Amino acid sequence: MNPLALYIHWPFCLSKCPYCDFNSHVAERIPQAEMLAALRAELAWEAARLGPRLVSSIFFGGGTPSLMAPDSVATLIADAARFFTLAENAEITLEANPTSIEAGRFAAYRAGGVNRVSIGVQSFDAQALQFLGRQHSAEQAIRAIELGAKIFPRISFDLIYARPEQTEAAWRAELRQALSLAADHLSLYQLTIEDGTKFATLYGRGEFLLPDEDLAAALYEATAEEAQKFGLQSYEVSNYAKPGGESRHNLAYWRYEDYAGIGPGAHGRVTLGGRLHATARHKAPEAWMALVARHGHGTQREEEVCPPDRAREALLMGLRLEEGILLSRFAQRAGMALIDAVEEKILIACIEEGYLTLTGTHLAATPQGRQRLDALLPALAR
Ligand SMILES: C[S@@+](CC[C@H](N)C(=O)[O-])C[C@H]1O[C@@H](n2cnc3c(N)ncnc32)[C@H](O)[C@@H]1O
Ligand code: SF4
Repeated sequence: MNPLALYIHWPFCLSKCPYCDFNSHVAERIPQAEMLAALRAELAWEAARLGPRLVSSIFFGGGTPSLMAPDSVATLIADAARFFTLAENAEITLEANPTSIEAGRFAAYRAGGVNRVSIGVQSFDAQALQFLGRQHSAEQAIRAIELGAKIFPRISFDLIYARPEQTEAAWRAELRQALSLAADHLSLYQLTIEDGTKFATLYGRGEFLLPDEDLAAALYEATAEEAQKFGLQSYEVSNYAKPGGESRHNLAYWRYEDYAGIGPGAHGRVTLGGRLHATARHKAPEAWMALVARHGHGTQREEEVCPPDRAREALLMGLRLEEGILLSRFAQRAGMALIDAVEEKILIACIEEGYLTLTGTHLAATPQGRQRLDALLPALAR
């Protein structure tokens, strides 16, 4: 059976963080029952057309899925297990915000089948949490991590670094605190300014500065170095894990495997009748729910992804991984050999500059290359 990763999007948050451009909405009243009915309907519709699949992972992402009623999470997991074959060791992750967690909720998510939680901590520094517009304290975040570790077999948390005026010494100290609390996985993101966010406006007005390129590179290198001391390897641009602790769900994206996206704004790449389809659902929760009520699904766009685009996407995702791209898998997924998908002169130059490595089996970016993917890829991909 063709494996499938299943993504379910929960589009609500208690407040909007100034840096965030994820599809998240602050609602006065979250329509829990209507959302569950629509998510179930869209999942059933997608399952009917996909046919038998082996679901290797389910990911409840957001927004803030820890605002979902635990019963809804359990119902959707049970639906997925009915519609598909759920792998025996399926990874079932839920993203949680420390603000929206109570002990009872975590236990109920676990009882419903969630076996991994990913907590948005962002920082252990009170001032930084305020700057990032977070509604929780460092103490609350630590309590959430400790509670999560007691309840779930696997746990990860997110931090944002390369913040204004952050020194390398301060980041190393904060990171060491994080690593002392970490289990087998951490996501460590450099702060990026996303168009349309409050930070984009403030940054545009010069109200704060970000680390320059050299400091950002030093912070990135310090991150891998500190993580390594605690046995966590950088396996993707922003993700660090002990061997075996990698997020299997996210690996499916980076390895460019099939994933179905359910819920407002969710994206998918699914093979239907031997062709790869890109799917995108309507972003606005109300509009999405209305579409689901009318058609059984809230698709806004769906198109076939043809070989040159498949190759570009597989390159974009695969070079984020430390393991790189398996050439045989690339050829099969992209419908063309990797060597035909890249500009040969640029490939050679990138190898000579120490940004890429090419063996008989893999193309991979070096740590230096992974920091420059945004610049490399447009030139590299044909
Ligand atoms: C969908 S959010 C996660 C979960 C949850 N809503 C929360 O905030 O706790 C995924 C993660 O992306 C990261 N993130 C979002 N926007 C970012 C940005 N502009 N720069 C760096 N990291 C960002 C944050 O670490 C965040 O926890
Ligand atoms: S970072 Fe998380 S809580 Fe903040 S707006 Fe984005 S999704 Fe919502």
